[in-house]
Amino acid sequence: MKKSAVLDQDVISPDSTEAVAALREKHVLPLPGPMYAKPIQIVRGRGQFVFDEKGKKYLDGFAGVATVSIGHSHPHWLKKIKEQMDEYFHTTSLYLHPSLGLLAQRLVAMVKMANPMLEMCFFTNSGSEANELAALIAKNYTGSHEFVALQHSYHGRTLMAMALTGQSNWRHSTPYGQSVSFAKANYTYRGYKHKEALDDLNQVIRTSTSGRIAAFYAEPINGVGGVITPEPEYFPGAYDIIKKAGGLFIADEVQTGVYRTGREFLGIQKWRVKPDIVTMAKGLGNGYPVGCVITTREIGEAMKGKLHYNTFGGSPVQMAAVGAVLDVLEKEKLAENTHEVGTHFIAKLKKLESKNPHVGEVRGMGLMVGIELVKDKKSQEPASDIAVKVLDKTKDKGLLIGKGGLSGNILRIKPPLCWTKKDADFAADAIEESLSEI
Ligand SMILES: Cc1ncc(COP(=O)(O)O)c(C=O)c1O
Repeated sequence: MKKSAVLDQDVISPDSTEAVAALREKHVLPLPGPMYAKPIQIVRGRGQFVFDEKGKKYLDGFAGVATVSIGHSHPHWLKKIKEQMDEYFHTTSLYLHPSLGLLAQRLVAMVKMANPMLEMCFFTNSGSEANELAALIAKNYTGSHEFVALQHSYHGRTLMAMALTGQSNWRHSTPYGQSVSFAKANYTYRGYKHKEALDDLNQVIRTSTSGRIAAFYAEPINGVGGVITPEPEYFPGAYDIIKKAGGLFIADEVQTGVYRTGREFLGIQKWRVKPDIVTMAKGLGNGYPVGCVITTREIGEAMKGKLHYNTFGGSPVQMAAVGAVLDVLEKEKLAENTHEVGTHFIAKLKKLESKNPHVGEVRGMGLMVGIELVKDKKSQEPASDIAVKVLDKTKDKGLLIGKGGLSGNILRIKPPLCWTKKDADFAADAIEESLSEI
């Protein structure tokens, strides 16, 4: 560990980026560490921009990992949160408060576009907790405890959510105590077309489960795994296979929800499949901690007579934050903006596939964009070293983006939904220049 002079003092007051990094290194588990070779501090955010301690402005292309949806410190969102804090900060679902039912009603009206039967919500603090609860509901409803998830998936960090995650870099050598089998993702760039992926799903159910499953978990477009975007045939085909095995279809909308993929509130709407359970988080709160499980009355009734509880889920301030996000999404027409800016951005980046020898594939929808980098297009060998360099170079040019994928070779751009076409052009140019400088 690097020693900072500041750390040798009794009273530590971080006075430089180095001291801030050293203090964190001393007292915080290194999971994960700062993103850049030379870490940066971000101390302020406004709209689609963030600022470091010296006032340097960056265009935010990662949004706290696809979380800041309506923009940093949006005034309407702050106002609603502060008003509720002044009135009544915390209560639990043990008492009635009008905000919980009203917000659930509002959210249900939006997810009904995906499945008109969805009508019951339960709020949590995070996406992991929402996925954990969705699994519990599926077990209670079906009487089965067997799950199928997809390779390259990411569903969170509670035990069940980790068990459902199909990436070695996110798995630990520990028995998760859950029955989860993994089917191949419809990852066309790596040769798995929908036909092969669906055959594999069938085979996995036949060979690795009892044949009757509790549920199939899927991200409509995978996030952490590198924006793997399926073909339109995949999810309808998967739905039929799952239903034949008696399973529920759980759409993990933690990243794809809240218009991230464009005009539809949920990513699964793109694939015309009616999910039995939807889990949401991230963009729903714009940074205020929230998660939510939404299901049908029939499935939700499986929890009747059982106890389940979440201290902060559904609190008045959480409801105020989510309500304000929904207000702004509508008022500022961010769904249409995401579609337009995202389509423009992806079209611009797509040109890199023929222009740059390391750009294997540009993919995604709306403002959920991935760029898979390879050493060369023939071998398709993942180029994680190039991804690291691009991240550093774009940062120097004033753009913050992320990376992911099993090999860390996929650039991920998931900005606040208030990006403009000018922002998209700036980001596309910064990425193109950075790649050509390497
Ligand atoms: C698809 C998906 N599901 C679940 C989660 C877990 O959410 P949280 O970090 O809020 O627990 C994440 C987080 O990145 C995610 O991307």
